[in-house]
Amino acid sequence: MTPNVIGLSGHPPCGVPAGHLEVFMRVFVTGATGWIGSAVVPELIAAGHQVVGLARSDASADALAAAGAEPQRGALDDLEALRSAAGASDGVIHLAFKHDQAFSGNFEAAADADRRAIETFGAALDGSHRPLVIASGLAGQPPGVVVTENDVPDTDAPAGPRTLSERAALALASSGVRSSSVRLAPTVHGDGDHGFVATLVDIARDKGVSGYIGDGANHWPAVHRLDAARLFRLALESAPAASVLHGAAEEGIPVRAIAEAIGRHLDLPVTSIAPEDSGEHFGWLSGFLALDVQASSALTRNMLGWQPTRPGLIDDLDQGHYFREPVARPTP
Ligand SMILES: NC(=O)c1ccc[n+]([C@@H]2O[C@H](COP(=O)([O-])OP(=O)(O)OC[C@H]3O[C@@H](n4cnc5c(N)ncnc54)[C@H](OP(=O)(O)O)[C@@H]3O)[C@@H](O)[C@H]2O)c1
Repeated sequence: MTPNVIGLSGHPPCGVPAGHLEVFMRVFVTGATGWIGSAVVPELIAAGHQVVGLARSDASADALAAAGAEPQRGALDDLEALRSAAGASDGVIHLAFKHDQAFSGNFEAAADADRRAIETFGAALDGSHRPLVIASGLAGQPPGVVVTENDVPDTDAPAGPRTLSERAALALASSGVRSSSVRLAPTVHGDGDHGFVATLVDIARDKGVSGYIGDGANHWPAVHRLDAARLFRLALESAPAASVLHGAAEEGIPVRAIAEAIGRHLDLPVTSIAPEDSGEHFGWLSGFLALDVQASSALTRNMLGWQPTRPGLIDDLDQGHYFREPVARPTP
């Protein structure tokens, strides 16, 4: 299928001269109502693309319509719905993930559903050279080194099942799909975040101390949600087939520095928690908080001209929105 709308954009992408003929796409987005997806949708629309978003409920369909996207009813397991929406699109951005299942102890089943969806998109886009951009993660990369886009994660690591999804997506390049994988930092932060950093704030409030594990010298890369959204658009528009991209604006922030910022804002003591007590103190977050990941995004920036412009994690914490009165948050 050829892209369905061709127009002259007033906003040429980085490096493209004004007046250059730009191709607008009809993009099928899964997870379009989620934390990252709800930033990707306006990013795509502002660049002139049309968005069709997967909606598994009336509430999601209404949210998509309000955002200017066309809802496509269906769920991640409705492979026929995924196949037909992908086939009718000029490209797919796949962000949906069964976090509810993953965080209730069945990560493997959630990763399996992710891989089945990717394979379905691959079949729908086979031979078309249309783009498929998937979300993956940087959690599970080896500690103590700065990993690059060329590093191949270990499928035996705890995040291994998700690595298999990435491999499945990248392998589609050999059957004529312009597939790419955006490995996101463990924290995609910003105003309204309900993920790891927001949970850490809630735990600090609850326990009366802002904790880190051991000496807190382990690192987390980070990216602002709006910078991540731009990266997904750039990948859709121009990432070559089989590209691995790092959605990490900051290479690695010591976890202790994150705990210190939280303690400062909540006026709480900042405390080391012994590794053997971390499960009790941090609950399901303890495994993630113990991660030590440092990730370069130099290759991604060079390839796509991606330049993060939003606040880094500590500056974002210092803006204060993480410390408004607590609201009921879904488990990420
Ligand atoms: N946020 C982060 O810090 C982070 C870090 C690393 C990687 N990632 C990855 O980035 C992607 C997007 O993450 P996110 O934070 O935006 O996730 P999120 O806020 O939890 O949103 C998940 C999205 O997936 C949809 N979804 C879940 N189960 C579904 C199902 N069975 N059928 C159809 N849709 C379903 C949800 O739809 P409803 O609106 O209907 O619930 C929602 O739109 C995920 O792959 C995630 O693992 C995120």
